[in-house]
Parts: sequence; C-alpha cells; structure tokens
Amino acid sequence: MKINLAVLFGGKSVEHEVSVISAVQAMTSINKEKYNIIPVYMTKQNEFWTGEKLFDINSYKNIPEMLKECTACVFVRSEGKVQLIRQKMKKFGSNHISDVDIAFPIVHGTNVEDGALQGYLQTLDIPYVGCDVLASAVGMDKFVMKILLKDAGFPVLDCCRFSSFEIDKIEECADKVEKKFGYPVIVKPINLGSSVGISKANDRDSLIKSMENAFDFSDRILVEPAVVNLKEINCSVVGDSESAEASVCEEPIQASNEGILSYTQKYGGGGGKTGAKGMASLTRKIPAEITPEQDEFIRKTAVEAFRYLGCNGVTRIDFMIDMNTDKIYINEINTIPGSLAFYLWQPKGLKYPELLEKLIQLSLKRYRMGEKINYSFDTNILASGGSFGAKGSKGSKM
Ligand SMILES: Nc1ncnc2c1ncn2[C@@H]1O[C@H](COP(=O)(O)OP(=O)(O)O)[C@@H](O)[C@H]1O
Ligand SMILES: [Mg+2]
Repeated sequence: MKINLAVLFGGKSVEHEVSVISAVQAMTSINKEKYNIIPVYMTKQNEFWTGEKLFDINSYKNIPEMLKECTACVFVRSEGKVQLIRQKMKKFGSNHISDVDIAFPIVHGTNVEDGALQGYLQTLDIPYVGCDVLASAVGMDKFVMKILLKDAGFPVLDCCRFSSFEIDKIEECADKVEKKFGYPVIVKPINLGSSVGISKANDRDSLIKSMENAFDFSDRILVEPAVVNLKEINCSVVGDSESAEASVCEEPIQASNEGILSYTQKYGGGGGKTGAKGMASLTRKIPAEITPEQDEFIRKTAVEAFRYLGCNGVTRIDFMIDMNTDKIYINEINTIPGSLAFYLWQPKGLKYPELLEKLIQLSLKRYRMGEKINYSFDTNILASGGSFGAKGSKGSKM
C-alpha cells in the first residue's frame, strides 16, 4: 500500500509564490510508486485546498479559477490517525478525502516556515519533514539566530535591533547605529526572506528611510555593518542533530541593486514551462570560486551550525566572505530553502528523488524518537476526587 504524503505549501507569506514553485518542483520528483501525493495549497488567506489542479504550475496563473476545481479541506485527528476531510461538509456521502501518514511542508517565510505550521503539525501528531518548531522559529528570526550562534562562538556580524515601538524615536535609533557602526550599513526586517524589505544605507537620510521601509514588513528590524567587498557563498546541509552532511558550495551572482540580491534576481529569472524556476534558476557558480581552505571552513561550519541549532531535513546556510579582510561570517540559515536546494546535491551525485526520500526518512526517524518520550501520564489526577478550587493548590506547581 502506498504511503499518503501531504505536501503543504503557499500560506500567508510574502514568499507565497516561491513556495508554490518549490512545492510543484518537489511534487514532480517525489517517488510516486511509493507515495500517494496529496497537494495541500494554503491560500494567502490561510484556507486549505486540495485537488489535481494543484500539481500544474500553470494553474496558479488564475488562482480563483483553479480553486473552483479544487476542494476546501481541513486536517483532523480521528480514529487514531490524521485525515484530510472536506471543509464544506456534504450532508450525504463521505467527507473523507484521504488518510495522511506524513506531512511535507514546503513553505517559505513568516507564518509558515517560522514554526507556526510546524506547531500545527506537531499538535496533529503527524510526522512532518524538516525542522521542528524551535529550530524553525530560530531559523526565521535573524536576531535570535545571531545571538545563539554568537554565544556558541560562530562568526556572525554584530547588529542593533529595533522594535516598531521605537519608531517615534527613530533619530535616537539612527544615533545608536552611527555610533556603533558608521556607514554603510544593511537594514533588514528580522523575520523575512527573499531580500524583502532589505536595503543598504550610506548616510543618515537613507538609514532612516531604510528603517522605515523595513518596518513596513516587520515589527522588528536589525541593522548591521555592510560588507563592502562581499562574496556570498551558500552551502546546504542535510541530516539531523545526530549526523549531518554538507553539499557543495555555490556562489550566487548578483547584478545591481547596490549589491543586494533581490527577490526578482532570485526568482524572476528562467522561464520555460513554469514561468519561473525558484532558486534553482538563479545565476550562480557551482562549485563556488573559493580556496580549498575557505571551502572546508564553510562546509564544516555549516554542519556545526546545523547540528547546534537542532535542524532537521534540508537547510541552506548562507555565508558572507569579506574580501577585504578574508573574514567569513554566517549570514543566515534557511530552514526550508528555495527549491529545497536540490541543485546543490546533484553535483554530489544525489538525485532529487533520492534527496526527497532522505528527508522523508529523517522525519520518520524523529517521529519514532518522539514516541519514546513520555509526554503525558496515564493517570488522570482530575479523576481522583480531590477538590481543585479556583485558587489551585498552594505550594504545588498548580
Ligand atoms: N551585512 C551585509 N553586507 C552586505 N550585503 C548584505 C549583508 N546582509 C545581507 N546582504 C545582502 O542582502 C541579501 C539578503 O540578505 P539576507 O540576510 O540573506 O536576507 P534574506 O533572508 O532576505 O535572504 C544577501 O543575499 C546579500 O546580498
Ligand atoms: Mg539570504
């Protein structure tokens, strides 16, 4: 019997479309002899839909039309398993769409990649591919990630963090940045991806504009020194905390936009049938043009950071080399990278279907390990007849 695998994608995120591309690519490559793939598309309004149309990238050109041929659905846990059922219940006949054995979130960005969707799947008690709630949340928060990595001795750039409550005192925030770093600096929303809301500031005016712009996308932003003579190197890591492996390194090539790799550069290129190809279409050098020592350092550091942050599945860890000083910094970790970084594994001889299978197996390993942990006690203390008044019981933990 085939294993029912639900692929979840889309969602209320600025990287919604990128997720659709990554998911359709993956669904094309998952082994269909072994898995019955159930596409579950989350709209920008967080409605869940399923249907055959969702396999075809061309359907997404007109989403309202596409959804007319799909079924609104919800996950429920019932009869000891997770099931996908019709959201608009029919009075007669079955509302059951499919049982679901494993969930595969292929989502990018806030609200989905940041532990929110992972928490939902955890609550359903279903094995799911990729990082768990905490690693996903840390991976999405550029500030928390920096603090954790810095604490463990990983090389990261220092930064100033501001919250939107400080927007009235933006001049004071700018003073702080000038005092700490001078110019140029990079301003970023803390919890987005795909370069959305990121800009470079060379003077006070542009700093204030950049900060205001970043606040349009997030209520928390960070400012860090800009690496002026920058070489960006990305490396994918696959595995779990017990054992992980690094891919080859890539060097994404950027054009204009003051040295910031833009959303359109990352995803707008390419074409063919899909109209866009996700991260796989970006101009890049594989392997990256770096020294063997740099290559070794980056690959080793990537694996160590992955394991330290408790990641699972496939990630892409992005580095910055300051070509003036030869210093190498971890820039960020993408817990669900665009195109699931499959193109970084192909040069190592790992075909995309094999990579996907590996990720699914890792999710099952974590689920099995979780089953050995005691999450609740069999005794119901509420059944013991004691009086648990509104005040709780003083002196105990209640
Ligand atoms: N400190 C920096 N110095 C120079 N360029 C930077 C710096 N931080 C980010 N960038 C540029 O901005 C791009 C996007 O920043 P990044 O932190 O990777 O955010 P995202 O999650 O949106 O990809 C990077 O790929 C790089 O081109
Ligand atoms: Mg990035």
